[in-house]
Amino acid sequence: MGSLKNEEEMEQMGEGWTKEAILYVNGLRKVLPDGLAHLTLLEYLRDIGLTGTKLGCGEGGCGACTVMVSRYDKKSKKCVHCAVNACLAPLYSLEGMHVITVEGVGNRKHGLHPIQESLVRSHGSQCGFCTPGFIMSMYSLLRSSQTPPTEEQIEESLAGNLCRCTGYRPIVDAFRVFAKTNDALYTNMSSMSLKEGEFVCPSTGKPCSCGMKNVSNADTCEKSVACGKTYEPVSYSEIDGSTYTEKELIFPPELLLRKSNPLNLSGFGGLKWYRPLKLQHLLELKSKYPDSKLLVGNTEVGIEMRLKRMQYQVLISVTHVPELNVLNVKDDGLEIGAAVRLTELLKMFRKVVTERPAHETSSCKAFIEQIKWFAGTQIKNVASVGGNICTASPISDLNPLWMASGAKFHIVDCKGNIRTTMAEEFFLGYRKVDLTSGEILLSIFLPWTRPFEFVKEFKQAHRRDDDIALVNAGMRVYLEEKDEEWVVSDALLVYGGVAPLSLSAKKTKTFIVGKSWSQELLQNALKILQTDIILKEDAPGGMVDFRKSLTLSFFFKFFLWVSHQMEGKNSIKESVPSTHLSAMQSFHRPSIIGNQDYEITKHGTSVGSPEVHLSSRLQVTGEAEYTDDTPMPPNCLHAALVLSRRPHARILSIDDSGARSSPGFVGIFFAEDVQGDNRIGPVVADEELFASEVVTCVGQVIGVVVAETHEEAKLASRKVQVEYEELPAILSIQEAIDAKSFHPNTERCFRKGDVDICFQSGQCDKIIEGEVRVGGQEHFYLEPHSSVVWTMDHGNEVHMISSTQAPQKHQKYVSHVLGLPMSKVVCKTKRIGGGFGGKETRSAFIAAAAAVPSFLLNRPVNLTLDRDIDMMISGQRHSFLGKYKVGFTNEGKVLALDLEIYNNAGNSLDLSLAVLERAMFHSDNVYEIPNVRIMGNVCFTNFPSNTAFRGFGGPQGMLITENWIQRVAVEVRKSPEEIREINFQGEGSILHYGQQLQHCTLFPLWNELKLSCDFLNARKEVDNFNLNNRWKKRGIAMVPTKFGISFTLKLMNQAGALVHVYTDGTVLVTHGGVEMGQGLHTKVAQVAASAFNIPLSSVFVSETSTDKVPNASPTAASASSDIYGAAVLDACEQIKARMEPIASKHNFNSFAEIEGAFIQGLGWLALEELKWGDAAHKWIPPGCLYTCGPGSYKIPSLNDVPLKFNVSLLKGHPNVKAIHSSKAVGEPPFFLASSVFFAIKDAISAARADAGHTGWFPLDNPATPERIRMACLDEFTAPFINSEYRPKLSV
Ligand SMILES: Cc1cc2nc3c(=O)[nH]c(=O)nc-3n(C[C@H](O)[C@H](O)[C@H](O)COP(=O)(O)OP(=O)(O)OC[C@H]3O[C@@H](n4cnc5c(N)ncnc54)[C@H](O)[C@@H]3O)c2cc1C
Ligand code: FES
Ligand code: FES
Repeated sequence: MGSLKNEEEMEQMGEGWTKEAILYVNGLRKVLPDGLAHLTLLEYLRDIGLTGTKLGCGEGGCGACTVMVSRYDKKSKKCVHCAVNACLAPLYSLEGMHVITVEGVGNRKHGLHPIQESLVRSHGSQCGFCTPGFIMSMYSLLRSSQTPPTEEQIEESLAGNLCRCTGYRPIVDAFRVFAKTNDALYTNMSSMSLKEGEFVCPSTGKPCSCGMKNVSNADTCEKSVACGKTYEPVSYSEIDGSTYTEKELIFPPELLLRKSNPLNLSGFGGLKWYRPLKLQHLLELKSKYPDSKLLVGNTEVGIEMRLKRMQYQVLISVTHVPELNVLNVKDDGLEIGAAVRLTELLKMFRKVVTERPAHETSSCKAFIEQIKWFAGTQIKNVASVGGNICTASPISDLNPLWMASGAKFHIVDCKGNIRTTMAEEFFLGYRKVDLTSGEILLSIFLPWTRPFEFVKEFKQAHRRDDDIALVNAGMRVYLEEKDEEWVVSDALLVYGGVAPLSLSAKKTKTFIVGKSWSQELLQNALKILQTDIILKEDAPGGMVDFRKSLTLSFFFKFFLWVSHQMEGKNSIKESVPSTHLSAMQSFHRPSIIGNQDYEITKHGTSVGSPEVHLSSRLQVTGEAEYTDDTPMPPNCLHAALVLSRRPHARILSIDDSGARSSPGFVGIFFAEDVQGDNRIGPVVADEELFASEVVTCVGQVIGVVVAETHEEAKLASRKVQVEYEELPAILSIQEAIDAKSFHPNTERCFRKGDVDICFQSGQCDKIIEGEVRVGGQEHFYLEPHSSVVWTMDHGNEVHMISSTQAPQKHQKYVSHVLGLPMSKVVCKTKRIGGGFGGKETRSAFIAAAAAVPSFLLNRPVNLTLDRDIDMMISGQRHSFLGKYKVGFTNEGKVLALDLEIYNNAGNSLDLSLAVLERAMFHSDNVYEIPNVRIMGNVCFTNFPSNTAFRGFGGPQGMLITENWIQRVAVEVRKSPEEIREINFQGEGSILHYGQQLQHCTLFPLWNELKLSCDFLNARKEVDNFNLNNRWKKRGIAMVPTKFGISFTLKLMNQAGALVHVYTDGTVLVTHGGVEMGQGLHTKVAQVAASAFNIPLSSVFVSETSTDKVPNASPTAASASSDIYGAAVLDACEQIKARMEPIASKHNFNSFAEIEGAFIQGLGWLALEELKWGDAAHKWIPPGCLYTCGPGSYKIPSLNDVPLKFNVSLLKGHPNVKAIHSSKAVGEPPFFLASSVFFAIKDAISAARADAGHTGWFPLDNPATPERIRMACLDEFTAPFINSEYRPKLSV
């Protein structure tokens, strides 16, 4: 059997240890060789060519790498299926299991799986990079469900999957189909016709054995159900699985019969990997290797080793040790093995809550609620109780609860001696626990609660779903009736996120024990808590005042909740006022719904048909190739960048000797190796490809290392030592203004009327002045930057495949740095996994950096950035500062705007001037202002160069406007909507840059919306709700937008296309635009199909390539469909002129894009906060980005999208300017999300009013929980801040 029993080490450890590891992947048996212990499942899958599973982040935060893992559970005699993040799963941890990837679910040859088909039809796959992950999460849910899941379960199961394109609604719509209660509806076969014991798989609607008690070897789902249905998007009848002819992959019979063996394997750098099957073996290993790391889910250790670069030499996987997997219900409580996974624990809690008397399970209920908000499903499926406890993270969600609920920990040493300690005593310091090196945590004992003993959980995170806590808590109180009073007999209040360890508020506990449960207790306890929990001003994580205020409000909520539980009991006088009830209700979210309302005019064979995205079928099956998926050319090297670690410094010396002796090293290149010109830049060449003397930001590229593998290249690059002489750094817009640090020749001014005269004339009843800070935003495209470059004819030609919105820029940069003519450099882009502006210019230096070693070594080079590096170095949406002075009448009519506007460009100009200008153009939003002066400046700061991002400065300009509009409303005591209306521009308005408005649809659109959403009644309902709820508020807002599409530089609004007509009647279209999920290729193909009057299936849009269509503008500015559609149409017309004339019209079906833009805007305004090491964030090293991954930077998840999201396009107003009435949908909807921001502000106003604060107040974006809470100004913030307080923001 290949076991190496003769090895000395294994002999020492006894019988049975083996190196034979097998794994099934998509039904195929794989023997895993020894030596791969350093590999994750994801790396392995991609290495064997299964590139459908994507690497989005590598830290368990995006779900792009989701696969389904099936194992046979001998205890229950069932196959257990669960979704797992392949990026964190160590390869060997899957030994003896079956992994199904997206390729194993369905494909175009054998038929799409119903889940895949449904996603295609719902337009739920745009750029497609997240798609395989969503498919696998859904597939795993269905395969593991005994009955079809509810809509809520479906949405819950997707909490660990991020999508940046669609806005989630189309994905939910696609998967909702599977939330059925009636099998007959779904399968077209009555449940009566099923044979006894036969189970319908919720996945395909076909009989299978997933849910059967006993799994047999003949586990197949062969039976197919025949039915012919007509097309109807997302209906049960269409997505019934009848078109899916492939068998559902079965659990491999070999794995049912196979006996598990203890494993002894190895990995890179001498890494040892063990999987014992017995506790005794585990203890022996622990005694032999006291520094070994135990592993269960690897969700902590994986992050430590990969992101924090911690090195462990011996890993012991304890998933198979029975003693660590016990889950026993006992008379006095629950016994939980340390290796029990959170999903299992949750199931058990849910079970005991239904089976045991209610008073016994108060702790269990608290755990159920807390686990609900613990990570995503994929993490919960593998993460263990013991892993969470022993990591002793100060923000562990469960440790405060174990402590509060009086849990005991059983600890076993190498000799098998067991001792018990109270959870409360177990945590000793920062990630330090009461375990000696020879001890491990065996199990946890959770006692049942007694009558009148109450346990409650609390957690405040930045984002509700799949986020770590800012502050959390577990609280317990045991009340006893004494002398007709309810007295606290015992209590424990434990907080996380306020100290280096989970912290018990001891003084407060001592105070409340023995006291009667009363208002007096509450008020005094709140005072003592302030002295009990101390956070230093520069505490890591920041938000100190917010965190302190949370400690009070959690206790207040606990008090309300306990009082409510006790209501009606003798002598409890503290009944909860009805206005306070909503403060303690736990959060529940109904399933999301939405409507899309638009006009379709069908013309020709294709235009106007709601066609699915042309490559969506490739995307849902994992067959679509992105840059890093293309098979690497032979001899391919991998590159990693040498990056600056200082914001501003002179390079004194570079020592690369460490890199040169690193394993796998092939070469290292710096500025002096660049044969062409080292100076680059899209508009002005003010950057260096490799910094030569001075670095001007953290993350600036100093050099590039190439090695045989990606990991080796990264390792070598980290070994390069750079000696710096630090220079003063500018780390905010204000610092740049103070130092007059502006990019050369970037001052701009627009004027209309005369603001000075207007202010002096006395026409203005009021004049206000203020400052608006506008936060930046990370693009967070799911596919990081990636380029593969290779030479031909020994460097005579250079070719590359790049993930970019501008292949032409890659061609230009590479030819420039290599000193080659552009005609010898070709860049191709098949598709990209999202761009949003982030791959318009900032992708080009990555291609150029890869080109240098490729050219000099004459070998192919792949440079794909890890997520954290990508976020750190490639620039973001510009933060802005606006200083306004606005004059207006008592009615609120605006007469003059004097605005200074600054953007944070970072260390190079890039596109920042154009971004500033666009912000200035949009600084009137939709308002008629007779006198305008807007001065703009582009700030040079020591941050990575900021760049294009959806809206290109427009949203920032409009946000500043809407801020002062809102303030005008407060000043004249009118609603912002009234102020907006009386200042609207109209037909013929002349804008401050001279354009005259034509075909202005503002009034009809505004009035239609007001009516359709019944705004006035909604306002009344909101006010009424707020009157009746003290601690929960609602808000409402209606905000218009005007957006100028196309490039401001006229010459860029041109496009090219190449159309081939073949003799078989098919047409090949190539054009200069890039497909990034917006469906550009589909729209362009529709134009061609209709133009030639042929079916869409006869048109193929090939990759974008600089050798087919030269000098193309970047795919940006919302104009690509128009310009490329027009170019294709022109080409078709010319061919037709030689053939026969036909008519065509353009249309679109881009609701997912509109919704996606809105949700991205929502993220910018309410969620996504960039934290940089600057004066506001002293706990971050200067110039460094703290929020550099999905763990710390939160984009909207499924739980953040509107509950009801109706999208309607104005009818009867065709766009006469654009090609065939098309409407730009890429950028304009982004700013509409400001309605969410201003609704939040409206809700805050209501809370402030309750506390006696009326009048205007500033609110910066994003409106995070911190900003919202601290703006509410009440008794829980008062001890820490005054009314002038403004939470810190990197601007
Ligand atoms: C994307 C993501 C989201 C997360 N979200 C949350 C969250 O919302 N809340 C939260 O609290 N945490 C969260 N975490 C942290 C993490 O998931 C948990 O701490 C998890 O429970 C760790 O379990 P594991 O089995 O994966 O640990 P592993 O990584 O396998 O092990 C962790 C540590 O525990 C030690 N260990 C394990 N078992 C034993 C034992 N029996 N005896 C002694 N030592 C042992 C190991 O040696 C190791 O040092 C998140 C992590 C990720 C990656
Ligand atoms: S790549 Fe695995 S979760 Fe992001
Ligand atoms: S389609 Fe989801 S990230 Fe692009």
